[in-house]
Amino acid sequence: MKVLVIGGGAREHALCRSLSLDPDVNALYCAPGNAGIAEVAELRPVDPLDGAAVARLATELRADLVVVGPEAPLVAGVADSVRAVGIPVFGPSGEAAQLEGSKAFAKDVMAGAGVPTARSYVCTTPDEVDEALDAFGAPYVVKDDGLAAGKGVVVTEDRATARAHALSCDRVVIEEFLDGPEVSLFAITDGVTVLPLQPAQDFKRALDGDAGPNTGGMGAYSPLPWADPKLVDEVMASVLQPTVDELRRRGTPFSGLLYAGLAITSRGVRVIEFNARFGDPETQVVLARLRTPLASVLLNSANGTLDAQAPLVWREDAAVTVVIASHNYPETPRTGDPITGLADVAEQDAPYAYVLHAGTRSEGDAVVSAGGRVLSVTATGSDLAQARDRAYKAVARIGLDGSQYRTDIAAKAAEHR
Ligand code: AMP
Ligand code: GLY
Repeated sequence: MKVLVIGGGAREHALCRSLSLDPDVNALYCAPGNAGIAEVAELRPVDPLDGAAVARLATELRADLVVVGPEAPLVAGVADSVRAVGIPVFGPSGEAAQLEGSKAFAKDVMAGAGVPTARSYVCTTPDEVDEALDAFGAPYVVKDDGLAAGKGVVVTEDRATARAHALSCDRVVIEEFLDGPEVSLFAITDGVTVLPLQPAQDFKRALDGDAGPNTGGMGAYSPLPWADPKLVDEVMASVLQPTVDELRRRGTPFSGLLYAGLAITSRGVRVIEFNARFGDPETQVVLARLRTPLASVLLNSANGTLDAQAPLVWREDAAVTVVIASHNYPETPRTGDPITGLADVAEQDAPYAYVLHAGTRSEGDAVVSAGGRVLSVTATGSDLAQARDRAYKAVARIGLDGSQYRTDIAAKAAEHR
């Protein structure tokens, strides 16, 4: 099978790594990719947001499957362009991707499907904003309606900060604060059949102890030793299957990866958000644990034949990933800094720990930073403590001027053991 992956972050590196290990895959391309992905896939330049260009590339390469990684191309309808030239594609239509592209649309689908989520108001005027803020009280949760790379959400005790963020958005969702630990649960679907993956937890705040601003995600781990073993079944029944059924009923069937961001509250599971693609950095740990070869699972989603998919098989191993971010991330990340130590990790820590590239590019013989999140250092172990140890040992070998990472990824969960 010839596979083309669209995107160029750590999620796409994790996808390409798994696909490169799949005996069914005999040619693997990534566009545009990054310096790390170049080691497992052939890179092609493309504007990921240009559906016609992506479809042309897929046709030229005679791809059997296109996998669209990030949300922006999905929301822009790139999967539709590829489907229109008759090539199977893993990823939802632009319309179905509105589940992630518009928080208001997601709330509407959840209401229709009876899926538990925070009560909310959609506001477009200052008066509506004030009313909604007063209705819920502190802590305030204010979400830009559109795509914002995980950075459009402000959670604050301070009414003035909440109000200022709300007024800076065209359309804003203001909602009830949800208490309790967060879980990310992914499911692969073809619009009818839903196949849940293993739950993971990510760390959205920039600094240790969940301090600092929200980011795209600073680390993740799986499994969750503290979670109820029935969690996946429960979320399948109360969230994932009803959402897929509701989208089909509305005439916007969703195929691809349905990402449920959940809060485990004292009153039960609530959806915080949906995403329409693999989450980053959770994908790095979920795929590290998946034993089933990935390509046929994605192809079954693309072809609408997921009912024929054999049950997924998981390793007993735990996995941890630690994101190394550039100087000043997430505000104004500095790029162009050389990265050292990559070869040391490959020599000394493989196969238990490895570096997935998020924002990197080659500059001559050097690899330099090219984004806010630069690397996602991933490790497996017999339990979270061992995986964590291995990940941080590898992190310590990496040099990147001014970089930052959290030191507490999976720390609490590893102690619960
Ligand atoms: P989102 O982009 O919707 O996932 O929001 C980013 C982060 O903001 C989430 O991971 C939560 O940590 C936090 N958040 C979002 N919605 C709520 C809520 N209703 N209550 C508490 N925290 C929230
Ligand atoms: N890990 C959060 C996200 O992918 O949106």
